[in-house]
Amino acid sequence: MKHPVFAANWKMNQAPADAKAFMRQFLAYYPRQQDRTVLFFPSALTLSAVVEMVKDRTDLSVGVQNIHWEDKGAFTGENSATIARGAGARYVLAGHSERRHVFGETDEQTGLKVAAAERAGLTAVICVGETLDQRERGETNEVVLRQLRAAVAHIEPNQIAGSLVAYEPVWAIGTGKTATTADASVVHQAIRAALRDLTGERGEAVPILYGGSVNRGNAAALLAAPEVDGLLVGGASLEAENWAGIVRT
Ligand code: PGA
Repeated sequence: MKHPVFAANWKMNQAPADAKAFMRQFLAYYPRQQDRTVLFFPSALTLSAVVEMVKDRTDLSVGVQNIHWEDKGAFTGENSATIARGAGARYVLAGHSERRHVFGETDEQTGLKVAAAERAGLTAVICVGETLDQRERGETNEVVLRQLRAAVAHIEPNQIAGSLVAYEPVWAIGTGKTATTADASVVHQAIRAALRDLTGERGEAVPILYGGSVNRGNAAALLAAPEVDGLLVGGASLEAENWAGIVRT
């Protein structure tokens, strides 16, 4: 039996008041279900509002979308893992494709961020995924596994085993194009094999999420695919009833 993880990546949407209105609706639509975990990644400025709204629900957790790799210091405009933890975050997205492709984050920087997350006690959701060019050149697994190995280069096997991985093909994010369940499964199986290499048997238990244009119509099929343990959802997580529908898949 799977214990699926459903993660909402709100990106640069939802001000605190919007998030409170969303959560009031979502909590009404979604009574606690013990057999699944739900994560919210609001903007850092909205984090506290969401933390406050879910404080009575141990099945719901909150994370930040990005951190700096240093614990503190002169980095104007940045947030550290320690500050995020202090504000109530328990999770962090590391190496999301928009960080990599819009802001130029490197594999090495993602690895340093994952290490910073571990130092602060945040659980990292390590995001990996190939571009369309890379897929067409047949480089998908090579790219994804290189990103994964770099992301965990500075943490211990037991810390890797405590993380989550999200496979998000860049060409599927926000485009309405979804990987077929078969394509997703091939990459998820390669990630699982790499996790076993890195951590031994403990790698079996690391949730591997799929992301990229997930919606209410395709969530069930994706979740049923081998080695797909959850979903990381952007656009379709922004409306409470819709998101509750996906989480109840
Ligand atoms: P999308 O975004 O669901 O809007 O494609 C997913 C993500 O970027 O995590």
